[in-house]
Amino acid sequence: MPELYQQYIDGEWRDSEGEPFTSENPATGETLGRFQRATETEAGQAVAAAAEAYEDWRGLSRIDRAEYLWDIYHELRDRHEELGEIVTRECGKEISEGKADVTEAWHMVEWAAGDARHPKGDVVPSEIPAKDAYMRRKPRGVTACITPWNFPVAIPFWHMAVTLVEGNTVVFKPAEQTPLCGQIIAELFDDVGVPDGVFNLVQGFGDAGAALVDDERVDTVLFTGSAEVGQQIAEAVASEPGKQIACEMGGKNAVVITDEADLDIAVHAAVMSSFKTTGQRCVSSERLVVHTDVYDEFKQRFVEVAEGIAVGDPLESDTFMGPLIETDHVEKVAGYNELARTEGVNVLVDRTDLPDEEIPDGHAEGHWVGPFVYEADPEESLRCTQEEVFGPHVALLEYEGDIERAVEIQNDTNYGLAGSIISEDYRQLNHYRDHAELGLAYANLPCIGAEVQLPFGGVKRSGNGYPSAREIIEAVTDRTAWTLNNDEDIEMAQGLSADIKTRDD
Ligand code: UN1
Repeated sequence: MPELYQQYIDGEWRDSEGEPFTSENPATGETLGRFQRATETEAGQAVAAAAEAYEDWRGLSRIDRAEYLWDIYHELRDRHEELGEIVTRECGKEISEGKADVTEAWHMVEWAAGDARHPKGDVVPSEIPAKDAYMRRKPRGVTACITPWNFPVAIPFWHMAVTLVEGNTVVFKPAEQTPLCGQIIAELFDDVGVPDGVFNLVQGFGDAGAALVDDERVDTVLFTGSAEVGQQIAEAVASEPGKQIACEMGGKNAVVITDEADLDIAVHAAVMSSFKTTGQRCVSSERLVVHTDVYDEFKQRFVEVAEGIAVGDPLESDTFMGPLIETDHVEKVAGYNELARTEGVNVLVDRTDLPDEEIPDGHAEGHWVGPFVYEADPEESLRCTQEEVFGPHVALLEYEGDIERAVEIQNDTNYGLAGSIISEDYRQLNHYRDHAELGLAYANLPCIGAEVQLPFGGVKRSGNGYPSAREIIEAVTDRTAWTLNNDEDIEMAQGLSADIKTRDD
């Protein structure tokens, strides 16, 4: 019987009253662990513990708080191989991606803990010579961190590392598909002896997340996940003045390949953008916008790679694409592939149902799909080229004309997370840089693979905040404009009179 794991609340492992659920390896169907869905009461207990721990935690220096994170940094590095393998087993990403997830996590921890010794705030001039003005930051309080399954170690640390160094306390709700990675993160915090209540883990589904969002003792909500859920969180929080959110959501990302593209780079970048993580990154590309002059050659080369891309056991280093996360998701992706056909596109590659000989031995229960590639008309408004599928489902969109037209197609979506342009012409690159509606834009690169020290987040439907590195500081702290008078007289700015006049004057 696989182990039954608990919640981690107020520095102790606690049994839950909630329904049990299991974590499954998406490549084999093997059960990795048993977990319990936190009830609303338990989510509330975690929030109460975080609220209780807050005053003492914020009373430490930033440098002392960061010491706990340095310990976690070393654990993540020392256990790289082991943790990378757990990531791969639980979320199905091929092994180099599983390990990169852990690397990305320690990069974020390193950034946050290192930042603790950097100068903070600003000294601001005043109109009045005797006044010293400063911008200072204070932590906001209890932070709920609700994270997705596709970066099950990295994204929790995007959320939590800076948040904790800044003096907030945390309730962490990992995705229900990757509770084991959540468990390991909680064990790391427990091992390094972070004070009770500073970090709390509640396992469960959307109801546990909603309980955190709705709890009035939660000051900040950080969310990375689907646009639908992000929207619901934003709506719920809109009625609670003072509660802050930062949400990073999905995309319908595009790679633009112009008439001036180097096609070796174009094919390489497009394959990486569309098929890494089996298309399950929020930055993955499901649209390739290709100039008519290079269209035929690009299409032939891209299709050839898509036909041959190695789908298989994610623990094997010669695999490019592992399985999808779960059966429901296979149905969703297959449904969109079907929808594309009914919308009348021209299908070029359809590996939705992989033949038995492509399924690795002992992996019959895995959630397998291969690439699906088609050509569609960018003039037509189709659901398959507008809605995020989150899988290896890729449209080739041929365009004629100049870079302005390519950028129009790139922007013809409700989303605006990541994108890339492949071109040797600096004017095209710069036009794209200035006009593509994106939070993350790349040139002559895939549109995946951002480093932690860059802002990460989108525009339009892709997000309303940047839960990462430096930018997250805005979400998890409040600013105070602090002005100190060094004189015995009060003198006001803007020529405002400070004289008090009475009837006797
Ligand atoms: C996501 O796409 O869900 O930029 C996160 C990247 C990674 C993070 C992606 N650093 O691809």
